[in-house]
Amino acid sequence: MELNELMRSCRTYRRFLQEPVEESVIREALDNARIGSNGANLQPLTYYAVTSEEMVKKMQPLLKWARALPPELGTPKEGEQPTAFIVMVKKANAIAFADVDVGIAAHTIALTAWSHGVGSCLLGAINIPEIRKLLSVPEEDQIRLVIALGKPAHTSTVVPLGEDGKTDYYLDEERNYYVPKRAFEDVVTFA
Ligand SMILES: Cc1cc2nc3c(=O)[nH]c(=O)nc-3n(C[C@H](O)[C@H](O)[C@H](O)COP(=O)(O)O)c2cc1C
Repeated sequence: MELNELMRSCRTYRRFLQEPVEESVIREALDNARIGSNGANLQPLTYYAVTSEEMVKKMQPLLKWARALPPELGTPKEGEQPTAFIVMVKKANAIAFADVDVGIAAHTIALTAWSHGVGSCLLGAINIPEIRKLLSVPEEDQIRLVIALGKPAHTSTVVPLGEDGKTDYYLDEERNYYVPKRAFEDVVTFA
């Protein structure tokens, strides 16, 4: 896929086909993240790739989906759930810029996965203590983000913000997503 098309079509997905994500895709995504730009090249991030059926199942209840939707619409049901996860961890004593690093790495992973047709959802609303226990993440390290992965089972379309100015995403009757974005002129100033 051409870069601009890749960037523009790489959206959040919350329902997935029940097909495994190829390990080679996960490895490529993590390797791209590993060598990405980061503050002072301190490389404060580590990653847990959750791919075994047993562990993927245990992760499912530890995530909170789609704040803008009622759970019966926004939370993937059994048979729709992600088939792999990446848990992003910030090492102890990381500098403040490490949170910027998390964002850069997360998008790197999402874009690499999408270049292979694997969709993702970045999740910040997560049960940190339970994920820590499940993956034996050291107490001093900070679990920052989970990336859910899988082959998408719905579409997602960017639409202009409505007159009410609301940014909440919404669904059609087939539970496809529509995601309002602010207009270019409203967010960009040339000086
Ligand atoms: C830092 C961050 C945290 C997020 N946390 C969650 C989350 O906990 N649960 C969820 O369902 N989506 C989460 N999302 C996905 C956003 O809701 C989604 O990016 C937004 O609605 C815009 O959709 P788009 O990614 O398709 O543009 C998160 C996204 C980001 C960047």
